[in-house]
Amino acid sequence: MANLTHFYQTFQPAHYTVALNIDRGAKTIAGTTTIQGHASQAQIAVHQKYLHIASVTAAGQAVAFDVDDQAEAIRISLPKAGEVTLQIEYTAPLTDSMMGIYPSYYQVDGQRKELIGTQFETTAARQAFPCVDEPEAKATFSLAIKYDEQPGETIIANMPEDHVAAGVHYFQETVKMSTYLVAFAFGELQSKQTTTASGVQIGVFATKAHRPESLDFALEIAKQSIEFYEDFYQTPYPLPHSWQLALPDFSAGAMENWGLVTYREAYLIVDPANTSLDTKQRVATVIAHELAHQWFGDLVTMKWWDDLWLNESFANMMEYVAVDALHPEWHIWEVFQTDEAAAALQRDAIDGVQAVHVAVEDPAEIDSLFDGAIVYAKGARMLVMVRALIGDDALRQGLKAYFAAHQYGNATGDDLWAALGQAAGIDVGAIMRGWLTQPGYPVLTAKVVDGHLQVQQAQFFLGSGQDAKRQWQIPLQANFDAPQLLTTATIDLGDYAQLRQQAKAPLRLNVGNQTHALVQYDDTLLQDILAHRDSLNAIDQLQLLQDLRLLAESRRVRYADVVPLLTSFAATTSNIVNAALYRLANDLKKFVTPQTPQEAQLQAFYARLSDRNLHRLGWQPQADEANDDALSRPYVLNAALYAQNAQAIADAHRLFAQYRNRWENLPAAIRSLVLASEIRHHNTMAVFKQLLQAYQDTSDAGYKQDLCAALTGTRQPEQITMLIQGFKVAELIKPQDLRAWFRGVLANPAGQQAAWDWLRAEWPWLEATVGGDMEFTTYITVIAGIFHTPQRLAEFKAFFTPKLNTPGLTREITMDTKVITSRVDLIEAEQAAVTAAITAAAN
Ligand code: BES
Ligand code: ZN
Repeated sequence: MANLTHFYQTFQPAHYTVALNIDRGAKTIAGTTTIQGHASQAQIAVHQKYLHIASVTAAGQAVAFDVDDQAEAIRISLPKAGEVTLQIEYTAPLTDSMMGIYPSYYQVDGQRKELIGTQFETTAARQAFPCVDEPEAKATFSLAIKYDEQPGETIIANMPEDHVAAGVHYFQETVKMSTYLVAFAFGELQSKQTTTASGVQIGVFATKAHRPESLDFALEIAKQSIEFYEDFYQTPYPLPHSWQLALPDFSAGAMENWGLVTYREAYLIVDPANTSLDTKQRVATVIAHELAHQWFGDLVTMKWWDDLWLNESFANMMEYVAVDALHPEWHIWEVFQTDEAAAALQRDAIDGVQAVHVAVEDPAEIDSLFDGAIVYAKGARMLVMVRALIGDDALRQGLKAYFAAHQYGNATGDDLWAALGQAAGIDVGAIMRGWLTQPGYPVLTAKVVDGHLQVQQAQFFLGSGQDAKRQWQIPLQANFDAPQLLTTATIDLGDYAQLRQQAKAPLRLNVGNQTHALVQYDDTLLQDILAHRDSLNAIDQLQLLQDLRLLAESRRVRYADVVPLLTSFAATTSNIVNAALYRLANDLKKFVTPQTPQEAQLQAFYARLSDRNLHRLGWQPQADEANDDALSRPYVLNAALYAQNAQAIADAHRLFAQYRNRWENLPAAIRSLVLASEIRHHNTMAVFKQLLQAYQDTSDAGYKQDLCAALTGTRQPEQITMLIQGFKVAELIKPQDLRAWFRGVLANPAGQQAAWDWLRAEWPWLEATVGGDMEFTTYITVIAGIFHTPQRLAEFKAFFTPKLNTPGLTREITMDTKVITSRVDLIEAEQAAVTAAITAAAN
């Protein structure tokens, strides 16, 4: 890797005037960018990508320049160092890349329409205008945009419009900010607006393909989030407005552009008449995430991309802190446990995983280093651990100082630890360093040895792992008399009988599951916990199941010993216990071959697990039911359908008929199950085609997801062929949604061969279409999540091993080969015992 110098070292922009003329018809952009700044030397460089540079002047005089596409640069020779005003004229194509300035496509009443938007993080601002495209190069921006404007169109940007002259929209000058946060959009937009208590204009914008009421939920959450953060951070929101915009084509999930946050439609638009609670929770956490960034990320920005984790893990924690304050009745931290904790524990256990903090020089590497389970989920768990250690008061006080010290500037992870440590009187950095710079996490083994209670730490691996003797400073969160932190490999906590008597409860470590670690109890301790199962709250139970699942996957405990424990959780009324229970049950599917007596036994076991809650909850969501019931129902119904429960299948069929031709009105929480059951049990070509057409016609992202889930479950070869033929048709399946389709068909035993053949044949196309995207490597992750036979493992290796040296793919291929290998080994070693245990538990 070349040792790059940052362009900011030689040239420090202070103000940009970006004038753009965008022609959608001709698909071209023409621009004039003026940059006032300070050149530290006569030879400077600014970034560009895919721009055709026509001229460069300094102080009105043409200067020599050289376009270096390899370095994404324009190298400029100034007459001398010092203050300078550069003016650069250029043109660029408008392409469907979902990066830089790009079109989104959608339909209203069958008419095809286009909306222009932007996505600049990490390094695509340089595709829109020449700039020093580095987070540290903060400057002010004045945008002036002209486009082939039609009546009824609206344009919005980071700041309010100042005036329009000769068709040019001039926007107010921004505050000092990083280039990757500049944004604008135009097209036929609708909006809903309101104002916060402190006078910030809040707005939600979307295309007119959506009903106006479907913007209301987001508006309320956005307003409340801004108000929450102004209070929590003790720092005012510094811009006049906070716009939220849903874009039909969007490669990430959402993007925190300052004052103009962009979202996938699925994460902003909520039909008030028919949206499931978990979808509302997701939308709320996404909005809260992006708005947390308005301070942490936008006001204070990481100095360099190596601290991107800091931005993202912080926002990932704050989305739960904020939503918990807005909707305490949701118990949103429970979702943190089933989503973030589970994702981090799974991924971080594979040898070869990256650490949260990774040194990176070349920003192009950032995207390939972007492992969501680590950067977001593990990172957020790190901060949750810090918050548990220092408490909310110190957190808020530390943050306030951090914002005051670094606002409109940049900071590093160490700056944050210093501010929090100062507020809390603890050396936070010393505790956190090991967690951030080392990959992986520890398993705590608790056992009674010669009457003494001993706790030991060692790195936890799923699959083979090189024991590097890593150690962590581990918050023990014990309910026994024990130190706060485990800082050594082992600790003797003393006489077990005595400790047990004092505590009056079974030993528990990592109470609340906020430490990024697993606990493996010896048999005595585990039996003690299970004997007092009733005193465990929902998070404790989820944690127990989650830890057992991972311990079984790693072969530290035998799956066959875990199976009989599941029945005792089947009567739970907690949605997160159901989530953990059925996640574990789902992991048993790999041990049975479809359509064999073994599968029949597993189905019978599913029936045993789900029967009671099935009768309690039924299909129909009730108006006043507990959130836990609403959220549990899909898990339970899904289990009953897998169990081939005749009544459940008949009920689904009846609901399908009842809602014929208006299936989008099926209650959203059960919609995908009704559709999937129909496709599975009553599939006809006519129904299949109708649902496929509905997918194309609807603008409801949730309904689209449900249709995708149902259609990909078909067992008919002809229909599978139809689906696969649609994979490359962007008018049917948007590239942003393709992965879900691919996963659905690959996970379907009747479609797996065809999907796998498709991927191998179309790899070059996929690389060309989504190769620049962070999603690209996750296609490999998806495959590794599904394959579990020696034959598929061999095919996986045959196809991907030759690609090991492809930039950005090395780590993913190495890790995923390990993931499939360990699964194949696990099945081979334990299949007989597990199927026997299933049979015993089912009857
Ligand atoms: N800043 C990110 C999006 C991003 C990250 C774009 C890195 C380009 C490079 C944004 O704040 C974000 O985290 N989006 C998430 C959704 C979020 C709610 C978890 C995403 O896109 O997945
Ligand atoms: Zn983010």
